[in-house]
This record gives sequence, structure tokens and C-alpha cells, in this order.
Amino acid sequence: MPDASPTPQVKTLPDAQTVTEVTHWTDRLFSFRCTRPRSLRFRSGEFVMIGLLDERGKPLLRAYSIASPSWDEELEFYSIKVPDGPLTSRLQHIQPGEEIILRPKPVGTLVLDALLPGKRLWFLATGTGIAPFASLMRDPETYEKFEQVVMMHTCRTVEELEYGRQLVESLKDDPLIGEMVDGKLHYYPTTTREDFHHMGRITDNMTSGKVFADLGIAPMDRAHDRAMVCGSLAFNHDVKAVLEGFGLREGANSEPLEYVVEKAFVGDGI
Ligand code: FAD
Ligand code: A2P
Repeated sequence: MPDASPTPQVKTLPDAQTVTEVTHWTDRLFSFRCTRPRSLRFRSGEFVMIGLLDERGKPLLRAYSIASPSWDEELEFYSIKVPDGPLTSRLQHIQPGEEIILRPKPVGTLVLDALLPGKRLWFLATGTGIAPFASLMRDPETYEKFEQVVMMHTCRTVEELEYGRQLVESLKDDPLIGEMVDGKLHYYPTTTREDFHHMGRITDNMTSGKVFADLGIAPMDRAHDRAMVCGSLAFNHDVKAVLEGFGLREGANSEPLEYVVEKAFVGDGI
């Protein structure tokens, strides 16, 4: 009698994890989910190294924020597609059932522990910089520690906001945090190069006071406001200046203060 039981998946890569789901959002953006190593513990907001084997059979790894919360059984990633990018020119074609490499050593500064206690938490992101906040927005600890959470996400076009929009929309019906999020999470997406109900750069909407007026909330105040920033180097640089203007100081895991910053990617150097 032939054995009818399914063949166990052979782990062909070092630190291999199996992709379970892939969603393409635009021709430049996709997300995927994969199995989670049993031993992997991480704090929502951290990043890991993931990748594929190159043509010579060597691991080709890049930093990726974990977009899923720390309680999730699987891992989720939200990715750019760089046409000639060494990793993403291939990673964008990944299919469910295929394997990726995942080094289970999470690190990063966008963690709640790196901030002093406060009342209102700001997530400030451009492009794929929303990934660590996709994790933190789904973590109950975020809402236990803060009375209000503001998610500002800016992209060039409306379609680039869709991953974040659907994620925020799904939180309302989430059995774990639906009630916690209700009335606490303010979502403020904007575009800069296509008409939308709210437009403009995050920096401009903060310095002009537009975001505070639109949401009907008080301007930033070092006593109560905390912030996490994730975007390009130029964005991070400019947002830091705005936050410092409100009196907030940059903290770290070793010295929690009022805001923390992480690069969404490297390559547009200033
Ligand atoms: P690379 O050679 O790495 O990049 C080529 C060029 O593409 C870069 O010089 C830059 O100009 C541009 N680029 C790279 N990544 C991006 C991006 N995300 N958005 C816009 N332009 C980009 N990328 C993600 O897609 N999702 C993440 O969650 C993510 N988290 C990161 C966390 C950290 C701490 C860092 C440092 C980087 C992160 N990145 C993330 C970027 C990622 O590490 C790779 O750069 C990206 O996957 C492209 O890899 P590549 O080999 O195809 O091209
Ligand atoms: P803009 O269209 O005005 O450049 P990119 O696709 O170039 O990474 O940009 C993603 C989003 O971040 C865009 O909406 C872009 O606005 C915005 N952005 C880029 N640089 C900055 C910056 N230095 N400060 C604020 N927003 C920025």
C-alpha cells in the first residue's frame, strides 16, 4: 500500500520559513505571510533579516520590519518591489508554499519600551515605513499604555495607502483589540501627488497645525506626547526637526525619552 500521508516539507534553506499568503497591492508594493519559528520572540515594532539564496547559494538578506503583532502565530511583511533590487526583484515573485530565509534575531528602536510613559502616541510613516506600525497598531499593549494613538501615513498616491487603510479598517472587527481601538486610534492618511480628502507631507501638516485641527486634538506637548518615526532618511531628518520643535527628545532602548526613529530603508543619503 502506498503511504497516503502528505510528504513533510523538506527544509532546504538555513533558517527556512514557508510562505503562506501573498498579496500584491500595487506594481511597487506587496505583502506576504509566512510561518513563524517557534523560538522567535520579538517586541512589536522590531525588524529581522530575511531573504533568499543568491545564484551562488549564499544567503542574500535584507532588514525587514515585522508587520504582524508579537502575539500572531504567523509573521507578516510589507515590501517594496525594486525592479533591479538584488533581493526584491526576486522576492516579489514568491508564491505560497515556497521558502524564505529568516534569521530569528529581532532588533530595533521602534518599541514601546524605548518611550517614557505618556498619554498620546504618534506613528509617523511614509511608504513601507508603516510596517512596524502595522505591528504596533495590532498590539494590545499600545492601547494599554496610551489613551490615544495617531497613525499618520503619507504616500505619493492613493493606491499606495491601501495596505494601511485595510489594516486599520480590520481592527474594528478584531476580536482581540476591536474594543480597545474604538475611539482611541486616529488614522490620518495623506497623499502628496494625487487628489485625496487629506493631502500634504506629514511635516507640513504638523507645522501648519492642520492635523491637530482636522482631528480636533491639542497640538503636541512634551508632557503627554510620544512619537515613533519610520521613513526615508530625508523624511526622518525633517520629522525629527519638527518633533524637536515641539520640545520632544530622541530616546533609545537604553534611554527612553519622547520619540524614537528607524530607517524604512537606506539609499537616499543626506
Ligand atoms: P536594495 O539594494 O536593498 O535597495 C535598492 C534601492 O531601492 C535603495 O537604495 C533605495 O533607494 C530603494 N529602496 C529600498 N527599500 C525601499 C523601501 N522599502 N521603500 C522605498 N525604496 C526602497 N523594506 C521593505 O520593503 N519593508 C520593510 O519592512 C523594510 N524594513 C526595513 C527596516 C530597516 C531597519 C532597514 C534598514 C531597511 C528596511 N527595508 C524594508 C529595506 C530593505 O532592507 C531592502 O532595502 C529592500 O527590501 C530592497 O532590497 P533590494 O535588495 O531589492 O534592494
Ligand atoms: P513628496 O511627494 O512631496 O515628495 P517617496 O515615494 O519619495 O519615498 O516618498 C513617500 C512620501 O514621503 C511622499 O508622499 C513624499 O512627499 C513624502 N516625503 C518624502 N520626503 C519627505 C520629507 N523630507 N519630509 C516629509 N515628507 C517627505
